[in-house]
Amino acid sequence: KVIVIDYGSQYNQLITRRIRHKNVFVEVVSPTAPIELTKDLKAIILSGGPSSVYEEGAPRLSEAIINSGLPILGICYGMQLIAQYFGSRVEKGVVREYGKNEITLLKEDVLFKGLSKVQTVFMSHSDHVTDVIEPLDLLSTSAYANAIIKHTSKPIYGLQFHPEVTHSVEGEQLIENFLFEVAKIQPDWNIEDFITNKVSEIKDVVKDQHVILGLSGGVDSTVCAALLHKAIGNQLVCIFVDTGLLRKHEAIEVLKNYEVFKDLNIIKVDAKEQFYQALKGVKDPEEKRKIIGRVFFEVFEQEKEKHNYASFLAQGTIYPDVIESLSTNGGKTTIKSHHNVGGLPKQSTFKILEPLRELFKDEVRKVGFELNLDETLVNRHPFPGPGLGVRILGEIDESRVKILQEADDVFITLLRKHQLYEKVSQAFCVLLPVKSVGVMGDNRTYENVLAIRSVDTTDFMTATFSRLPFEFLEEVATTIINKVEGINRVVYDITSKPPGTIEWE
Ligand code: XMP
Repeated sequence: KVIVIDYGSQYNQLITRRIRHKNVFVEVVSPTAPIELTKDLKAIILSGGPSSVYEEGAPRLSEAIINSGLPILGICYGMQLIAQYFGSRVEKGVVREYGKNEITLLKEDVLFKGLSKVQTVFMSHSDHVTDVIEPLDLLSTSAYANAIIKHTSKPIYGLQFHPEVTHSVEGEQLIENFLFEVAKIQPDWNIEDFITNKVSEIKDVVKDQHVILGLSGGVDSTVCAALLHKAIGNQLVCIFVDTGLLRKHEAIEVLKNYEVFKDLNIIKVDAKEQFYQALKGVKDPEEKRKIIGRVFFEVFEQEKEKHNYASFLAQGTIYPDVIESLSTNGGKTTIKSHHNVGGLPKQSTFKILEPLRELFKDEVRKVGFELNLDETLVNRHPFPGPGLGVRILGEIDESRVKILQEADDVFITLLRKHQLYEKVSQAFCVLLPVKSVGVMGDNRTYENVLAIRSVDTTDFMTATFSRLPFEFLEEVATTIINKVEGINRVVYDITSKPPGTIEWE
């Protein structure tokens, strides 16, 4: 495997995905985590990041990494760390290079197999390596900066640009060269092996104990259920919690969807009041997420004794949830606390099982297909664990839930009617804590504003808003305003991710 040391670059997920696509297993780790030099670790990538290497408190490069003897590729900040470590100078540049730039390769190297001498790359830096001294060698320059460096006797490279970004035209080839020519890794990671290994791992860990799984009807928990069921059969109990924050008819639809799983043990728990009570008066998005996560755990704890005192709680946590909850900025900022990654409350007696923790959404779907799950289940739009709780901005109450459920139902029904549901990756409505003036008939209205959101993405880490036809948007807006009492204005969210996130809270 390969590890990416996360110095906080916004492009870390892109690196990871590029590498997975080459059938190589890769994980992102924090710069402060101890590095285990296991036999299967074949290369290390040092990511970019927002800090300056010469600043006090900036994340450092550990001796263990640099002395590991493994091939190392430093990208941007990662390159500057390498340069600094070996005594070259890193300084603030006179010009900040951002966007597409040209670099020229000055020497031959295995890393450059099949690459053009002059090529377009994506840069985003203000600091750069200003002089390259022994034991480092300069392999390429751009108009303003030293673009590629290499250690003269070790397989250690530094790039001032971002090969993982598609604007770096030959970046993919360069990453491939690093993996296969420099590090000589075997591309042997695939979905079938993943399933086989996970099934035996789950059996080893669970033994004869029982597992509770929170089933939401979404693809992640469904695939998780299928995988666990394959491993431990009826030692698994799936619990579908009606949080009171579900879509209209969601509970019925979800349970209907699972009828095909004849021997999957599914129990529905009505916990509406518990959730509404806990959320009363709470407006802050992070607090709402944390409360919802906590109440989920409470519900599972309550169910535990009814089910052979299950010792494990399984969750359909996937990789983007883990990353977004941990850091994304060198450990500085949490983007949002995904409710299923918050960790167990201290008093909990469950042990956690997260078999999909290493996978991206599209990989989870592949596992689903491989396990013969029905396409309608696997291709459902994702629905976040906290549900409508993060789509009602501000305080949640039952009447606002009702308004949002109705509006969302109109939007989704129309998407399906116009065969657009499968074309977009995720679509939903958000009820805003804002009222606006309108006129209906001869009367002035003063009602809620509703935002509709639809995005296109493969991995949910980055996304663009869907270019839905105006006529369609018009039909959605008109139908919602006519049918749903409490809404008199509909707006369409045209923000991509980044800078926005997909959900609003
Ligand atoms: P964001 O809003 O972070 O969403 O761009 C990325 C994807 O994750 C879903 N999401 C969640 N899923 N628990 C989940 O299971 C959560 O707490 C959560 N928050 C966001 C979101 O719907 C989108 O598909």
